[in-house]
Amino acid sequence: MSFLEKSFEEAKELDRDDPLNFTRAEFHIPSKVDLASTHLVDKINKSQLSTDEDSIYLCGNSLGLQPKRTATRIIQHLNTWATQGVQGHFKPLEDSPLPTWLNADARAARMMAPIVGAEEAEVAVMQTLTANLHLLMSAFYKPDIRGRHKIILESKAFPSDHFAVETQLRHHGLSPETSMVLIQSPDSEDNVIPTSHILSVIEAHAQSTALLLLPGIQYYTGQLFDIPTITDFAHKHGIFVIWDLAHAAGNVPLSLHDWNVDAAAWCTYKYLNSGPGAIGGLFVHSRNSAVTKAITDEKPEEGYQNRLAGWWGNDKKTRFVMANKFHPVRGAAGFQLSNPSIIDITSVTASLEVFEMAGGIVPLRAKSLRLTAFLETLLQRDMPAEQRALFRVITPADPAQRGAQLSIRLRSGLLDTVMHVLEANGVILDERKPDVIRVAPAPLYNTFQDCVGFVKAFSAALEAACKEQSA
Ligand SMILES: Cc1ncc(COP(=O)(O)O)c(C=O)c1O
Repeated sequence: MSFLEKSFEEAKELDRDDPLNFTRAEFHIPSKVDLASTHLVDKINKSQLSTDEDSIYLCGNSLGLQPKRTATRIIQHLNTWATQGVQGHFKPLEDSPLPTWLNADARAARMMAPIVGAEEAEVAVMQTLTANLHLLMSAFYKPDIRGRHKIILESKAFPSDHFAVETQLRHHGLSPETSMVLIQSPDSEDNVIPTSHILSVIEAHAQSTALLLLPGIQYYTGQLFDIPTITDFAHKHGIFVIWDLAHAAGNVPLSLHDWNVDAAAWCTYKYLNSGPGAIGGLFVHSRNSAVTKAITDEKPEEGYQNRLAGWWGNDKKTRFVMANKFHPVRGAAGFQLSNPSIIDITSVTASLEVFEMAGGIVPLRAKSLRLTAFLETLLQRDMPAEQRALFRVITPADPAQRGAQLSIRLRSGLLDTVMHVLEANGVILDERKPDVIRVAPAPLYNTFQDCVGFVKAFSAALEAACKEQSA
């Protein structure tokens, strides 16, 4: 038996004994035939032929797979709309698992709060990630050019975050040259940034910095930052901290309230499986949202000290009075602007039902740690030595410093062929030019056998890429 054959046997046992193996059946897994199809396949209504082999989908860091119950819940929502029209806003239906549209945001926040370790009132399911980062900055970034005006972020931040910071500065009449501080990794090749380095940059700019914006998990390297330590250190220096949790929410346990995080935003289409561009999440620590007064003619700013407001942020009791006196909802919900897309919210909560079935983020993380460690072991143990020399895992080896994802840097020039061969073998993951592939086993639907299948296909892909290079 080859190494890989032995590993397949081992993986089968691990999958069989996995207490969370039942959640995979909750998802639509694209088959290899589906992926090769150039037609619109009715996957939702027609069950897959038993001869169709599942693809190996390791791309939940980019777009999570679709829970089967999403369609059920969305059809229930569409039926509510079809039968009730505008009454759907207020009229509860006895046998419906869905709330009235008026209460859909509150239920979504309640279900989302444990995912990020927040109090229910500290979470709002609203807008999208970049929009929420802008809203948070509009609320909490109050630069003073003679005092605190700088924003610190990492030099390889996701471009949207970089653009958001740059334009916030310009919006305030400031220049990125003087007010934007970029944390460069001391290791320019792999871009991993030690906590000590982040702290030293904060310290160096402590007197002039107003805001720190960092990702919980770095999208390129997969590094999980030490959120409590960094937050605490920044606070000691009077700096407000916002975390971009795009790659962390639904991936690793978070304790935003207890870690005293000021504010955070995340998307729901990665590990939270809510569909491309679905509505995002926002956290505002209870310390930072205490606004209780209505707008008065004398002191209008007291009603919304720190936010741009919209009618959906207004207390439900007076929202429909239309009196143009803003009474914010307590907590993060008071940052809402518009009435949310119920199709979106229904999709998010359908997925959060699956998280609840799994027992929440803690058991999922336990499985995730085992899955990613298994993948790492296979890469070291089962690939021939000459192939191991062709790549390097750049994600930190310490499980406490990473989530599900391993980022693999390939020797220069191999990426295109490797991706092509993986795809031809029904393996879906993503690339980051020039040389990195990101492999993310998601514990809700990936298996130990997926990890072996990937390593087998990766080995074949490297072989093909090397042959092509030497031809
Ligand atoms: C780390 C990070 N920040 C921001 C974004 C932008 O998200 P959105 O398009 O939802 O605003 C992404 C998207 O993938 C991301 O990965």
